[in-house]
Amino acid sequence: MNNKLQLGKGRIVGKYSEKGKENGKWFGEFEDSEENYSKFLTECKRVLKKSTGHIYIMFDSYSLLSLGGVVRKYFEVKNLITWDKVNIGMGHYFRRRHEYVIFATNGNTRKIKNRKFPDVWRFKRIHNSDYPTQKPVEVFQAMIYASSENGFTVCDPFLGSASSAIAAIKNNCNFIGCDISDKSIEVSTTRIAEYIKSGNDLLQKNSMAVEENIFWE
Ligand SMILES: C[S@@+](CC[C@H](N)C(=O)[O-])C[C@H]1O[C@@H](n2cnc3c(N)ncnc32)[C@H](O)[C@@H]1O
Repeated sequence: MNNKLQLGKGRIVGKYSEKGKENGKWFGEFEDSEENYSKFLTECKRVLKKSTGHIYIMFDSYSLLSLGGVVRKYFEVKNLITWDKVNIGMGHYFRRRHEYVIFATNGNTRKIKNRKFPDVWRFKRIHNSDYPTQKPVEVFQAMIYASSENGFTVCDPFLGSASSAIAAIKNNCNFIGCDISDKSIEVSTTRIAEYIKSGNDLLQKNSMAVEENIFWE
């Protein structure tokens, strides 16, 4: 996304001046060319269970337009979900308030948990996080609650601050996560260990849900 947004002062994460600095709010970006993305999806397809696997892929508006269609070559796209972050963010024209999530299966027809979930999700964004682009646990809880059963394995290859791991634990799932950033692994290891030990989430104290929770009990 940042490649497409080199106008103006704002970038999505951090300041230009912080790039490359040890404690700067930057992380390595996944190159969003079609070739790179196809390699990534090939690997996702290889590891995702054929009989039961569900995949959720997050996009901003830019990457959805350029890469969203590529997903169809690998998976059966069932929904385009809008995550409404409730509060507006940055933007030089209309200010961004949402991200997209493609939900797809790996050639199977396994359904989600029930049919009452809408394709617009309202969870507030996280402000001033320790790790850039930390997403609310609830976004991942919605995915995992809808798609998993006890003992399923969840994999997040772009772990970041481990919000997905906390959601997996809450849903009694096994979890595999990885990230190219050392800082992510450090933050995630500490967060997961503390959550398992005490039930205390070090990085998100309050729920980001804004209305009655329809996703999980
Ligand atoms: C948008 S952030 C993920 C945020 C995460 N969902 C959270 O809630 O904290 C994307 C992550 O992808 C990682 N990343 C970028 N390129 C990567 C790569 N090639 N392999 C693995 N991780 C990568 C970055 O270090 C960053 O932590």
